[in-house]
Amino acid sequence: MARLLLTLFLTALATRAADCFTPGEIWPDDKGVHINAHGGGVLFHEGRYYWFGEHKISGRGGNSAQVGVSCYSSQDLYNWKDEGIALAVEDSARSEIRKGCIIERPKVVYNAKTKRFVMWFHLEHYGKGYGTARAAVAVAEKVTGPYRFYQSHRPNKGEWPIGYDPDTVKDDKVSLLKRDHSKGQMSRDMTIFVDDDGRAYHIGSAEENYTLHISLLTDDYLRFTGKFVRIFPGGHNEAPAICKHDGRYWLIASGCTGWDPNEARSYVADSMAGPWKPLGNPCMGPNPRGGHGPEKTWGGQSTFLLPVHGRPGAFIAMFDVWRPRDPIDGRYLWLPVCFEDGRIRVTFPETWRIEDLDALANSVGE
Ligand code: DGJ
Repeated sequence: MARLLLTLFLTALATRAADCFTPGEIWPDDKGVHINAHGGGVLFHEGRYYWFGEHKISGRGGNSAQVGVSCYSSQDLYNWKDEGIALAVEDSARSEIRKGCIIERPKVVYNAKTKRFVMWFHLEHYGKGYGTARAAVAVAEKVTGPYRFYQSHRPNKGEWPIGYDPDTVKDDKVSLLKRDHSKGQMSRDMTIFVDDDGRAYHIGSAEENYTLHISLLTDDYLRFTGKFVRIFPGGHNEAPAICKHDGRYWLIASGCTGWDPNEARSYVADSMAGPWKPLGNPCMGPNPRGGHGPEKTWGGQSTFLLPVHGRPGAFIAMFDVWRPRDPIDGRYLWLPVCFEDGRIRVTFPETWRIEDLDALANSVGE
């Protein structure tokens, strides 16, 4: 009896409603289980937020896709309901999403014209390490899925970036761009951004992770149009996350050090086509839990800039703290964003609430 009461008490404790973010800690879902949605992104649809991310399992093998892409939903951003597996890996050796392949950084957007939910993700075929470097698409009629695999791409095959003429541009950083021109560009870490005019863009690490490409998608969001630009050739940017604020586009990215943390960087532009101006490390202030400081993104790596619905100008910066030896234990840093002196800033409060965003913004730089 005593044991039953203790179990009930612990379950109640684990599943009690949260009313704030506690970045870096275990984040229980509605069943009291640590949320399993790494490298994720969030879609707001009809009054609810939907968080999609990589489902990981314990142990080294958990870094590849053994299950698929998870989905959680929430109304308040603190409490998340497990909606199950939105995109499941397949057992067939002929499938592009064969169990054991690599599926990373899934992002879901809604296409108002086709009324379909479109999931994009970084795909590496089974047994090929990170050599495939493809951008893949799955679609669903219902936000929580099931998503059906549609197609994978090497982006912008046979196309040159906007304004680039291979015969006249003198630049020593185009050898990889040229190498991949005929077979399609590489695409590893990625995100998707839908602008106010409904146009969607794929932002991905290309050219062996040396250069980010921003590519316009077709109206149905399923394919590349062939229109793309490069950001900072040779800049080694991964983990892109993007938002729009005050009519400008803000991008946070990381350097390339595998699962290990490095210094984040940020950029701003008046147009998705650039030019993109570098703004340096957006992370400011100490790590209240000890460990890595802002010069190492507090141990995290960017994945998404989440607009808070109904609060114009309010954004949450989502980072992953990877645990490659036990990936299921990876943690999440959801941190407040503010814009100040023409820069985007992120700080790490020990706990915080969405209502605190304005006060936190005002205290930056004090
Ligand atoms: C860093 C990327 O951002 C992650 O998504 C993952 O691909 C790791 N590299 C693998 O080392």
